[in-house]
Amino acid sequence: MKIKKVTKAIFPVAGMGTRFLPATKSIPKEIMTLVDRPLIQYAIDEARAAGIKEFIFVTARGKSALEDYFDHSPELENTLRKAGKTDLLEILKDTNMDSGAIAYVRQNRALGLGHAVWCAQRLVGNEPFAVLLPDDVIAAEKPCLQQMMEAYAETGGNMVAAMEVSPAKASSYGVLDIDEDMGSVVRAKGMVEKPKPGEAPSNLAVIGRYILTPKVMSNLNKMKQGAGGEIQLTDAIAEETNDGSVYGFRFVGQRYDCGSKAGFLQATVAFALSRPDLRDEFSTYLHDMIALQKAAQ
Ligand code: UTP
Repeated sequence: MKIKKVTKAIFPVAGMGTRFLPATKSIPKEIMTLVDRPLIQYAIDEARAAGIKEFIFVTARGKSALEDYFDHSPELENTLRKAGKTDLLEILKDTNMDSGAIAYVRQNRALGLGHAVWCAQRLVGNEPFAVLLPDDVIAAEKPCLQQMMEAYAETGGNMVAAMEVSPAKASSYGVLDIDEDMGSVVRAKGMVEKPKPGEAPSNLAVIGRYILTPKVMSNLNKMKQGAGGEIQLTDAIAEETNDGSVYGFRFVGQRYDCGSKAGFLQATVAFALSRPDLRDEFSTYLHDMIALQKAAQ
């Protein structure tokens, strides 16, 4: 079986980010920073590490800060160069994308994740593609999408990142119905988006990293509404379970749901503690805060 290399990735960033209002009234959620890097930068770095060459953003009104972020900034760069601040210039390099490597399509109405992915159909063409949701940030020694690409090189088909969740949490996710469990890879015989309590087919939930075939894109043409009245990506992938070509991948790493306030705060603490320049001062502060809280109870 010849497995086609994946070089294109879709970043759906057209959601309204209502859980972060009022901040997201004027700032795209994906520009919010973990320590000093916007969420979107983590997703781009992960995609680059996995061999992605073409970056497709599905955007919406009010997201122009995102487009500016990836542009060159000649004035700022000149000022830094004149001041000899080569370390900062180096940091900025990561934010510049090659001409032609980045494309933007608009989703006119937030009709759901499946619809957002469908908006990139013409740019993807008849090729397999990756999807990364920037509000899922994954701390991992080997970036999550790279782990998936390695597994995909063996399986082909469709692959979704999966993690174990408690039964109480399953109804917030797409959940895999497992046909065959091969360890880090499982073959799915079904997928259910946001199952009702007690009806989840397993405890293996899908999170925001996908490698998908063009078949999934054509399934989205049907514009079928699913859970919550939205056009769900999960439903379009689930159709492919019929021929046994959907795999869940248990990645190694810690996933943070930065679309929620609690997850965003947890990620902020974890990433700050992993930074050599901040670790000591910040952990002392955290210890002191916790001690103060305990004393006050
Ligand atoms: P979420 O539902 O988590 O994001 O969608 P949201 O809608 O922006 O946030 P809340 O729930 O209102 O706080 C997951 C991902 O799918 C994208 C979002 O931008 C996010 O990256 N998305 C969702 C779209 O691009 N379009 C949509 O119609 C829906």
